[in-house]
Amino acid sequence: MNDSVNSGPRTSERIDMGDEVRTEAARHEPAPAHALETSPANAADFVCLETAETQIFLEAALGERPRVIYSGPSIGKVSPQELALLSTKQHAPGSANVHLRGSLLNELGTGIAGPSGFKAHRNGTGFAADFRVTSVEKLGEHAIILHCSDPNTQIDAQHHFALTPSSSIFTAKTTIINGSSEPLSVEWCSALCLPLDDRLDKLFGFTGRWAAEFQIEEIDLFRGSYMRENKAGRTSHDSFPGLLAGTKSSSETSGLAANFHLGWSGNNRVRVDQHQDGRTILQMGEFLFPGEIQLERGEAYTTPEITAVWSLDGFSNCTQRLHNFVQDELLDARGLNRPRPVHYNTWEAVYFDHAEERLMQLAEQASAVGAERFVLDDGWFGGRRHDKAGLGDWWVSEEVYPQGLHTLASRVRELGMEFGLWFEPEMVNPDSDLFRAHPDWVLHADGVEPVPFRNQFTLDLTKQAVFDYLFDKMTALISEYDIAYIKWDMNRDTNHPGSGNRGAMHQQTKAVYCLMEKLRGAHPKLEIESCSSGGGRVDYAILRHTDRFWASDNNDARERQSIQRGASHFFPLRITGSHVGPRKCHITGRVFSMEFRAASAMFGHMGMELDLLDESEEDREILRRAIALHKQHRALIHGGDFHRLDAPKYFNAVGCVAPDKSEALFSCAQLDPAPMTLPARIRFAGLDPDRSYRTKLVWPMRNTSITEPSIIDQANLLGVGSTFQARALMEHGIQMPLIFPDTCLIFHLTEA
Ligand code: GLA
Repeated sequence: MNDSVNSGPRTSERIDMGDEVRTEAARHEPAPAHALETSPANAADFVCLETAETQIFLEAALGERPRVIYSGPSIGKVSPQELALLSTKQHAPGSANVHLRGSLLNELGTGIAGPSGFKAHRNGTGFAADFRVTSVEKLGEHAIILHCSDPNTQIDAQHHFALTPSSSIFTAKTTIINGSSEPLSVEWCSALCLPLDDRLDKLFGFTGRWAAEFQIEEIDLFRGSYMRENKAGRTSHDSFPGLLAGTKSSSETSGLAANFHLGWSGNNRVRVDQHQDGRTILQMGEFLFPGEIQLERGEAYTTPEITAVWSLDGFSNCTQRLHNFVQDELLDARGLNRPRPVHYNTWEAVYFDHAEERLMQLAEQASAVGAERFVLDDGWFGGRRHDKAGLGDWWVSEEVYPQGLHTLASRVRELGMEFGLWFEPEMVNPDSDLFRAHPDWVLHADGVEPVPFRNQFTLDLTKQAVFDYLFDKMTALISEYDIAYIKWDMNRDTNHPGSGNRGAMHQQTKAVYCLMEKLRGAHPKLEIESCSSGGGRVDYAILRHTDRFWASDNNDARERQSIQRGASHFFPLRITGSHVGPRKCHITGRVFSMEFRAASAMFGHMGMELDLLDESEEDREILRRAIALHKQHRALIHGGDFHRLDAPKYFNAVGCVAPDKSEALFSCAQLDPAPMTLPARIRFAGLDPDRSYRTKLVWPMRNTSITEPSIIDQANLLGVGSTFQARALMEHGIQMPLIFPDTCLIFHLTEA
């Protein structure tokens, strides 16, 4: 290599930064040996976003690297200067002469050891970006954009930060802009490099598989990297982009707790790195294929948004604020402003075996037990008599429905239910008219063998013709049949999301949002459910375009308890699809009573997915009563503050407390036998400690205690109930009766 190339700083260039003018040479002056890091003393060099619960302090001196000084629960009346001074770091032997300060992306130009939050290059050059603040744009009291630039690599970065005043949720994302005529390849850009409070020494990651989503994995923070990388083309079953952090003593009701999420429905990367100097940095961003993001001059790439919430009162408090955030900021009025209709879904009742007469009978049974929406699942269109054909051919099958769907849809409406329909818009079976006509409409990598996956390929929605085809077909059906609801499915990983032999998952994900939005625009009342072989695609970005998600294909009532508990960390109950499944679960083969199945579906957007004609008369009656109970308490379940209770692992105890604390509903499911002769006490949460509550057992409607007497009869819980001080219920707790596992008790409390 010729040493004269790139042999040092350019000394004559001047960088115009408003009031501040400095030379490139100044940036490259050697630092004095063992220099202390210093922070500006001037208040104008700091940016503060504050609510009563949360404080975010940033250092943003013009011409300097921006950095987070503090992010977390409010400390009250403190100045960012004093926090910056308290954070003073010094030289440590065996490392650089200066302490290398963090920046918002820890770019490679900063020299910081540990993974960088930004990786980009121009055909292999210009790898070491180093962003400096050029201006601070305030967008009201609770939002700012930090404009930064690196004249050397000719890249600009805009850091967007906001703190929602009502729920104290922090959001951040970064926009990268290419300022050069040479194309810029962006390989990684975290939404932000977020330093974590050093007390947070426990991580709770999300993992799972198909039919076992939202499983929590507990990790003791260690010196090194925790990383999950997901390139399934959806949020995936095994690497949902969410992370909790706490201390060894954090619980649902107390202690320092934090919750982080990346709002993006495609590929993602989540990582936490403990650096050798003790800093722990969180990064969340989009996994990009090599060459996927290539920016021409003036073009920009914006990362997905990271959402963060902190609490000193445990994980349930984080959850409540996130649920409010989802309702206030993400969900659309069409689904928010009316009670969530109880569903009947046909999938596990008929699968692909559609027959109009039988579906009408099922609709009658569904309406008789209380369904308010009937969703016709897969199998109604094209040649879709099994999962090997028909996807993409979005017209009603004449073979199965010679008169179209009118007869069925009208009968459903006569029975007082809305009519919903299943689609899997992004997919095509090779055995379909669509694929035969347009074999080039699928995402693929040139010369690469496609991965077989449920006999289908992913359509390339970045092609206008594909997008238009799907919109035209769907909008016509929605109009013709007055479809109130779409179950929007997506049933395969997209392993090679190439378009024009270039990675295209980013554009594809945006095109999906766009198609959803265009359909919503054309049909103002249409509601959409996000399903992906169960809960394989749900996040805070898709919830800006959808109204419900299907949490799992697994309707096993016991498994549902843990799946829904995991999902509840991020998603409100009103959008969490939870269905009563068949007596013998189709996925696990286990058999559960109707009382348990119904109770497990009640704390969510309730529905049914079973062959009602195959259930006993008695079980249908129990189901009818459960649905009636759900409707009776629906406003509380969907509008109350959600609490996960701290309980032994063999219980799953959760509850909803009315915002005015006048009533509450708690569900206590015993999942395994207790290790002692008697089960534990359960301590309710969220009640007004100064009030008393009449406590009753509203489900099951019979005494399920194995031996008698128990608290059920002693406190007359199935009758008029008993009144207890809230402090007694929350601090002393209620002794659970001796019940069989797979029994779920639901308590209703009203202010006495
Ligand atoms: C996916 C969904 C199911 C069902 C089937 C239909 O697996 O998660 O609920 O709709 O597709 O093929």
